[in-house]
Amino acid sequence: MRMLLISLYLFCAFLSKDVLCKSNHKSSRSDGGKIVGGSETTIEKFPYQAYLLLKKGDDYYQCGGSIINEYTILTAAHCLTGISKVYVKTGTSVVGSGGTISVSYNFTQHPKYNANTSDYDVGIVRPSTPIKIDGSKTKAVQLAKKGSDIAPGTNVVVSGWGTTSENGETSDNLMAVEVPTVSNDQCRRSYRTLTERMFCAGVPEGGKDSCQGDSGGPAVSKSSGIQLGIVSFGFGCARKGYPGVYTKVSSVGIRHWIKKVSGV
Ligand SMILES: *[C@@H]1O[C@H](CO)[C@@H](O)[C@H](O)[C@H]1NC(C)=O
Ligand SMILES: *[C@@H]1O[C@H](CO)[C@@H](O)[C@H](O)[C@H]1NC(C)=O
Repeated sequence: MRMLLISLYLFCAFLSKDVLCKSNHKSSRSDGGKIVGGSETTIEKFPYQAYLLLKKGDDYYQCGGSIINEYTILTAAHCLTGISKVYVKTGTSVVGSGGTISVSYNFTQHPKYNANTSDYDVGIVRPSTPIKIDGSKTKAVQLAKKGSDIAPGTNVVVSGWGTTSENGETSDNLMAVEVPTVSNDQCRRSYRTLTERMFCAGVPEGGKDSCQGDSGGPAVSKSSGIQLGIVSFGFGCARKGYPGVYTKVSSVGIRHWIKKVSGV
């Protein structure tokens, strides 16, 4: 689970026009890091990237998501468990400034989502106002075709504002990292419960990965830009021998459900 409980600070940075929040502003955050082993990037390179702030009880969590059309954000099911509302921010590289916020009370998890195994870790958020697709800072991503395969060694690019090390700080600036996929047979040596709705990506030596707060965000093919995966879980982040695990968008049970709920 790569969802991350975040401090009031980020919530306030997110809703920076809220005067009440400003007094809680902490200045001790460091912003120099990376997704884990990645580098800073811009929303123009990842215009489909969305930032999700999820309210659960009195707490707020951060996740990622992707724009699949003006009405629909694709994310991970585990981001949506027990929440009451979602703020969706799009069109900015920096969480604390710019972009557009819309709120959503309409979200759904895959009916077969299993929190114990993370199987079917896919969810959909429908913002109450459509996302303005401007073609440069906001754009829909193309999703992998139902039943299409991913060859081991395919380079995927993962992006997000998650922590830049295990249990580290989240990033204000959008980060991205490139990692090769590994076969499910090989990945099963690290995660025995891996299912056909998942794939893994990482370098053998570790050091490059998605991390907490990146959950729900997109993993796209480096060559085609098509979204292949959704950030799902991992044992720690970027550890040697433990690649990141992604929901496989093209697996029949996942892709069929996305189409049914969103029309995409
Ligand atoms: C909620 O979203 C679904 C699609 O995910 C849509 O069919 C439905 O009309 C939405 N409901 C409301 C109340 O907006
Ligand atoms: C998950 O595990 C809990 C505790 O072991 C169990 O009660 C529950 O039925 C399991 N849920 C599923 C969907 O397998």
